[in-house]
Amino acid sequence: MTFVVTENCIKCKYTDCVEVCPVDCFYEGPNFLVIHPDECIDCALCEPECPAEAIYSEDELPEGQEQFIEINAELAEVWPNITEKQDPPADAEEWDGKPGKLEHLER
Ligand code: SF4
Ligand code: F3S
Repeated sequence: MTFVVTENCIKCKYTDCVEVCPVDCFYEGPNFLVIHPDECIDCALCEPECPAEAIYSEDELPEGQEQFIEINAELAEVWPNITEKQDPPADAEEWDGKPGKLEHLER
């Protein structure tokens, strides 16, 4: 079992999540973060930390977000690890909650 970062993180990237992870299993891309499914210990600490409510347990994913299981697994293998909070993008609030953000995912 793992937790999964879903679509609403794209272009919000608040990074509050990384500070609480006891096993440092977040990985950072240009405008999105992912969780490494083999490293996550399922502690659930990150889920309430995300201001964009983008983190879910893989067995509680909202409808339509199932593809993010694969996206997290794939990108966690190629992106660098992140353990410290950063400033979010200047327009993060504008993007919070917008539909159709997957097309904006930068790899
Ligand atoms: Fe890290 Fe726990 Fe979140 Fe998994 S559930 S990513 S181990 S904080
Ligand atoms: Fe993304 Fe939420 Fe973390 S917006 S970077 S999953 S705090």
